[in-house]
Amino acid sequence: MSQTTLFGEKYKIHQFPRTQYLGSKEKLIKWILETAPNDIKTVFDAFSGTSVVGYYFKDRGCKIYSNDFLKCNSLISKALIENQNITLNKDDIDILLDETTKADNLIEKIFTGVFFEKDQAQFLDIFRANVEKLDNEYKKALALALMNRSLTRKITLGHFAHLKAIEYSRNPDRIKRNASLAKHLKDIFQSLVHSYNHAIFDNKKQNWVFCEDTISLLPKLKDVDLAYFDPPYVGCHPDYQAFYHFLETFVQYWKDKEFVNGTKSYFPKKESGFVQKTEIINSFTKLFEASNHIPYWLISYNNKSYPEKDTMIELIKKHKKVKVYEQEYQNHYGGKGSRKGTREYLFYCYN
Ligand SMILES: C[S@@+](CC[C@H](N)C(=O)[O-])C[C@H]1O[C@@H](n2cnc3c(N)ncnc32)[C@H](O)[C@@H]1O
Repeated sequence: MSQTTLFGEKYKIHQFPRTQYLGSKEKLIKWILETAPNDIKTVFDAFSGTSVVGYYFKDRGCKIYSNDFLKCNSLISKALIENQNITLNKDDIDILLDETTKADNLIEKIFTGVFFEKDQAQFLDIFRANVEKLDNEYKKALALALMNRSLTRKITLGHFAHLKAIEYSRNPDRIKRNASLAKHLKDIFQSLVHSYNHAIFDNKKQNWVFCEDTISLLPKLKDVDLAYFDPPYVGCHPDYQAFYHFLETFVQYWKDKEFVNGTKSYFPKKESGFVQKTEIINSFTKLFEASNHIPYWLISYNNKSYPEKDTMIELIKKHKKVKVYEQEYQNHYGGKGSRKGTREYLFYCYN
C-alpha cells in the first residue's frame, strides 16, 4: 500500500474514509499515535465511535479489540477492523440496490416527514431488507456502515437531534454549500463504496469487535497492553443516542421500541453511564478499577468536560502514574467539544 498524506513519509498506512461524528478523533489521530507507547502489541479501543483510532493502530500492526455499545458503531469496526479481506463487489451492490424486494415499512411509517421524503424512507426499508440477502457477515456490516455514512452525509449537520433535514434539503443556498443534502441516498452510497472497499486490509492479527458496555467487557479482555479511552465528554453533547438514534434504529430495525418526541428517538435507550453529571465520577472510578490490569491507558479528554482535569488526575492516580499532553483546537470542527480555543487533553497513564 502506498504512502498517504496523513503521516508523510514516516508510516506506511491505509486510508480510513472521512468521518463526520461528534467527538471523532480523525483530526487528532497523528498526535494520539505519536503519544502512544511503542512497546505495545494489543490495543483496546474501548469507546470506538467511528473506529478511526483502532483502525490506525491496526495499521501499525497491533492486534485490536474494538468496542462501542451502539451497534451502528460496532459495525464499522466489524467492516474495517475485524474484516481483513471481504469487500463489496458489483453483484453485492446489485443485490443491495434491488428495488423490487418486498420489505417491512418501519422507516417509511415512523420517519417520513421527519428526516426524509417518502421515496427515500421507502428506499431505506428496501435496502435494509436487501442487506439480509448478502451471504457474509462482513459484507452486511460493510453495507450498513456505508449506508449509515451516506445518511450522515445527507442529513444536515450529520446527526438526528434536529428537525431541519427536509427543509434544508429544499433550500438552494444550503444545497450550494453541501450538494449531498439534495442527493438520492443511492447516489451517495455508490460514491462511497470505493473508499470503504479500499480501506480494508489484513494486518495478520486476529482482531475482535464487541458491542457491549465497556465496564462490563473489560474483565473479559486479559491480554491488552494499551487501553484507549474516549468516552462521551460530559459537558459536550454526551448523549450519543440522542444524536445518532436513527442510525441505531436503521441497523437494529427495532420491533420492541417506542419512538418518542419530534425526532422519533427510540425508547427505552441503552444505559451509557457516561452521560449525566451525577453518574460520571462513579463511572470513571469503575472504569479505572476494571482496567487496573492493563499496563498503559491513553485517555482523551478536554477542558470543557466534567469532572475537571484535576479530579480526573486524582482518579487516575489511584491506579497509575500520569502525564498530561495538551493541544488547542485552531479551528471549529463541529460540536461543542471541538470549538476553536477548546483545549484537548491526552492523559498518558502508566505503571
Ligand atoms: C467520544 S465518542 C468516541 C469517538 C471515537 N474515539 C472516534 O474517534 O470516532 C464516545 C463513544 O462512546 C460510546 N459509548 C457511550 N457509552 C458507552 C459505554 N458505556 N460502553 C461502550 N461505549 C459507549 C458512544 O456510542 C460513542 O460512540
